[in-house]
Amino acid sequence: MTGKNTSGRGQRDLKVKVKTARGRKLSSTLWLERQLNDPYVAAARRDGYRGRAAYKLLELDDKYRFLVPGARVVDLGCAPGGWLQVAVVRVNALGEKKGKRVGTVLGVDLQEVEPLAGATAHVLDFLDEGADGQVKDWLGGSADVVMSDMAASASGHKQTDHMRIMALCEAAAHFAFDVLDENGTFVAKVLAGGAEAELQQLLKQNFRKVANVKPPASRSDSSEKYVVATGFRGQAKD
Ligand SMILES: C[S@@+](CC[C@H](N)C(=O)[O-])C[C@H]1O[C@@H](n2cnc3c(N)ncnc32)[C@H](O)[C@@H]1O
Repeated sequence: MTGKNTSGRGQRDLKVKVKTARGRKLSSTLWLERQLNDPYVAAARRDGYRGRAAYKLLELDDKYRFLVPGARVVDLGCAPGGWLQVAVVRVNALGEKKGKRVGTVLGVDLQEVEPLAGATAHVLDFLDEGADGQVKDWLGGSADVVMSDMAASASGHKQTDHMRIMALCEAAAHFAFDVLDENGTFVAKVLAGGAEAELQQLLKQNFRKVANVKPPASRSDSSEKYVVATGFRGQAKD
């Protein structure tokens, strides 16, 4: 684990069992049990993050170092705001690191985000017609990092979920091609499931390096992983 005072993995294995209560579905009981036994959930509560997802971004950035002071960041699918919290600190959006460049953080999501100092968040369906133009207007210039943790709610059907997340990911990638400055970085959640080869190909044409990563904070029983594409070539070749 990474970030502020995080050492969750070495912790005592406290296995909390939840009794199935009347009126509670088995799936809810299992979800509750998993939450109570997840060291990242406990760490997020302790460290003041809005969700355990924050650790995934911390781990990705510890490895690839794209959230540098002064970076202009767009976070697609930013609610409830864990990634925003991480980005605000790392790009120095509040100017707290004296003598370092001050970055900006812009987020969008289908859901409203509780205000966060140093970040601007807007409610928007990124798949709506004209959504990319709207985000560009809010951004008012180019960006150094476009990241997407967007995920449609699970349908229960693996292939449908996979196709939905790939559509979100592709929309995010095309937006990144439009707004990234040369050498910019694109980070996005994908689900392993077969149809991602096309996206990989597209990213490889546009970025010098494309890595597929499963950060430790990503649950091992989930097929999610992240693509981290660095060194944007500066010109869309799609
Ligand atoms: C896993 S959560 C993101 C968590 C976030 N990275 C954090 O650290 O708090 C996925 C988000 O994607 C958003 N989302 C899904 N489809 C979207 C769309 N079409 N446009 C905008 N946001 C979308 C969901 O509303 C949800 O809040």
